[in-house]
Amino acid sequence: MDEALWAFGRVSGIVALVLFTLTVMLGIVTRSGRPLPGLPRFSIVLVHRNITLIGCVFLVLHIGSLLLDSYAHLNVVDVLVPFLGSFKPFWQGLGTVAVDLLVAIVATSLLRRRVGVRVFRFVHWFAYAMWPIALAHSIGNGTDGLSGWFLLVAGVSVVLVGACLLWRLSARFIESTRLRQGRLT
Ligand code: HEM
Repeated sequence: MDEALWAFGRVSGIVALVLFTLTVMLGIVTRSGRPLPGLPRFSIVLVHRNITLIGCVFLVLHIGSLLLDSYAHLNVVDVLVPFLGSFKPFWQGLGTVAVDLLVAIVATSLLRRRVGVRVFRFVHWFAYAMWPIALAHSIGNGTDGLSGWFLLVAGVSVVLVGACLLWRLSARFIESTRLRQGRLT
């Protein structure tokens, strides 16, 4: 039973990581106000949100199955309080930090009308910290973390998110966003 929980815990963690990679990329496209081939602007926001929520489901499965796996030696407190774990406390703790950031980002997104745009936007910036922290956790804590195929997946993810981030910081991105929001005279 532990073997099955352990395998399920690893697979669900990897699926969660891949979905959060797509979330970050779609978040940047959402901010640009541009459509994607076959995806009009308004539906990109919906896809961004839904992929995040599916990612959260896989994250709950990841944590839940590893909590039940007696070999992983996890305590419930490890889910929200970082760096207390007995197994690789630093790399394990990074996973917990990523969860804490994710909870704040998802909560302020779902309660956006109540918390206001400023708070929403401020907290949403932490997505740029959450993703690399989750990736570092996966590589440092995972059984497959240093395997060739996992490093390939991680490498491709870093290149894709990095390219989106460079685009996000480019003058062209900012100018076209302003143009779409009608702020350039
Ligand atoms: C956004 C948050 C997180 C993501 C995306 C994530 C993802 C991953 C991934 C991809 C792995 C590598 C699996 C493998 O080697 O095949 C991993 C390993 C692991 N994660 Fe997470 N994780 C997160 C948070 C957490 C939290 C909060 C905990 C516990 C409270 C946790 C517990 C573990 C454990 C014990 C392992 C080692 C499993 C093994 O033996 O390989 N993770 N995680």
